[in-house]
Amino acid sequence: MILEDTIDNHAKLIGWQIADAIETKRQSNEHLVLGLATGSTPIPLYQELVRLHREANISFENVYTFNLDEYCGLEKKHPESYNYFMRQHLFDHIDIPQDNIFIPRGTLEQVFVNDYCVGYEMKIQELGGIDIQILGIGRNGHIGFNEPGSSRASITRRVELAHTTRRDAAPAFEGFDNVPSFAITMGMKTIMSAKRIILMAFGENKKQATKQAILGDITDELPASFLQQHSNVTYCTDFNIE
Ligand code: F6R
Repeated sequence: MILEDTIDNHAKLIGWQIADAIETKRQSNEHLVLGLATGSTPIPLYQELVRLHREANISFENVYTFNLDEYCGLEKKHPESYNYFMRQHLFDHIDIPQDNIFIPRGTLEQVFVNDYCVGYEMKIQELGGIDIQILGIGRNGHIGFNEPGSSRASITRRVELAHTTRRDAAPAFEGFDNVPSFAITMGMKTIMSAKRIILMAFGENKKQATKQAILGDITDELPASFLQQHSNVTYCTDFNIE
């Protein structure tokens, strides 16, 4: 399904759907597993979730979260780490138990990374899989940090970031050379295993990649195109896809 609306309206609608899913699970004493993205795109959604917690008493006590990715080499307290981002925009403002939060650890020595990534996958499965996966999209069609060339079968792993991805992140890091070259990301298979996927793409600079992802060939050159093979994806845009 493709929905075109303003960013604020998307944030409200998705926020409400997440709140509804949390409440439905709570009523049957179950938990909800959310897959979360960072970056500028989901910020209005996180603001809405915080508002729903504060003003509509939505509790996140029965929610588990798995973040898509994290830069290698950044400590949790680094202001550009995704760990820091998630606390700043969401986790510090809601009542989610700390033990329910999973974000790839970017500071592991490389020899431990493979086992760690396998553990990340197992934890998702142990909790019953991701119920709702939130995604943004890179200008090169990446989702998570699955850069062009990522296979449909890829799982959580260490990856090298594409030049365009590092260039887009350069202003935040005050220079291209300060942007980490590697990251840990959930794989395409991990993302495709989510029961429901919501991809948000806002701004003209996302139009080309989003259009290709939805209407173009399915190819690892544009990893978001694999989403065409998923049976429950909502594409939320603020531009016309035709
Ligand atoms: C971040 C992530 C990335 C971003 C994408 C868009 O966790 O997974 O795929 O969603 O790079 O970033 P923004 O939203 O900053 O344009």
